[in-house]
Amino acid sequence: MSRTIRFGVSLNDRLLKDFDRLISGRNYKNRSQAIADLIRDSLIERDWQFKNKRVAAIIGLVYDHHRRDLVNKIIDIQHDFQKLVISTQHIHLDHKNCLEIIAAKGQAQAIVGLAHKLRAVKGIKHASFTTTTSGKKLI
Ligand code: NI
Repeated sequence: MSRTIRFGVSLNDRLLKDFDRLISGRNYKNRSQAIADLIRDSLIERDWQFKNKRVAAIIGLVYDHHRRDLVNKIIDIQHDFQKLVISTQHIHLDHKNCLEIIAAKGQAQAIVGLAHKLRAVKGIKHASFTTTTSGKKLI
C-alpha cells in the first residue's frame, strides 16, 4: 500500500515562476499534482528509452482513402501485428481524407517496429505516435 509523503523542494525563483505559469495553463489544482505528473512522465519515458517494457501506444495515420493500395497495406500490416493491435478506429475526415487511430499494447520495441512500418507506407500524409504506460506499477 502506498502513502503520500510530504517533502520540501528548493528552486530558483525564476524557475518556479516559469513552472507556475506552465502549470496554470494545464489546470493543475496545485504544484504537488503537477510535480507528480512530471515524475510519472519521466518514469514512462525511461521505460520506453532504456527498457523493453510492456507499454501502450496510440498511432494516428492520415491518408487519402482513394488510394486502395495504401488502405490494403495498412490493413495487412495490422494483421501481421495482430498481437499488438488492440483496437482501431476509422474516421472519415472529409470526402478524400481518412484518419486511422490504432491503439497498441505490448513490448516497447515491437510497438516501435509497428509504428515505423505503418509510418513508412507510401502515401501516408501524416503519422503521429504517442506512447504511454500500460498502467501497471504506476501510481
Ligand atoms: Ni474513411
